[in-house]
Amino acid sequence: MRGIIIAGNWKMNKDVAEGETLVRDILVSLNGIALPEQVRVILCPPYLVIPAVAPLLRGTSLQLGAQHMHYENDGAYTGEISGSMLASAGCTHVIVGHSERRQYFGETDATVNRRAKKALEIGLKPIVCVGETLEEREAGVTNTVVERQLLGAFTDFSVEMMRATIIAYEPVWAIGTGKTATPAQAQEVHALIRAQVAQTDAGVAQGVRILYGGSVKGSNARELFAQSDIDGGLIGGAALVAQDFLAICAAAN
Ligand code: PGA
Repeated sequence: MRGIIIAGNWKMNKDVAEGETLVRDILVSLNGIALPEQVRVILCPPYLVIPAVAPLLRGTSLQLGAQHMHYENDGAYTGEISGSMLASAGCTHVIVGHSERRQYFGETDATVNRRAKKALEIGLKPIVCVGETLEEREAGVTNTVVERQLLGAFTDFSVEMMRATIIAYEPVWAIGTGKTATPAQAQEVHALIRAQVAQTDAGVAQGVRILYGGSVKGSNARELFAQSDIDGGLIGGAALVAQDFLAICAAAN
């Protein structure tokens, strides 16, 4: 059986002190839930908060991820952070191709591919995001868009690379809007994604974790996670308040 992954994407929120407080609060409340082994929780704070909270997470079951990384090892890329820097700071995961990166920072399917490959080379697990805009959904091209994004992101991926990758389906119209995809809407696209991975390898498709993202809350998480092809969530707004995040972790339990 595939386990559930709950990943908190803090986006550009929380300074160092606030980040430490949030992690402490999450750790205290998590103690009361006793998450089973199959539920993995990953926190993706801003870069600066990563080294501050890494010592707090050491020895706990929680893992650390980043929200983005560069696809080169090092060099003259002012303002950028490399995957090996993230790994050296304690990250095991990295979000790649979030729709906000695509929308505001020129991320393309080709750069998503380069980043995901570099992450894997370094030993980081990429959480590769795909998802359609409202216009695309209304135009009836959701499947075409998601298929194109997957083909682009996983160009030249071996079966082993695919096995080490996590996918997040995040309809852009559901991110931060309070409009969640219905469990049936999400399940339909998740099934499509799994079928597309099966074209590379049927076994990998059965094991690959596909997270749903877009206004996940404690109140809708259980029904979403109960869908056969939804293996957890990528959580934005609700990851910023310990009790809200914990309610989602509890729903995965
Ligand atoms: P949201 O964000 O939960 O605030 O909708 C999800 C995401 O962007 O990963």
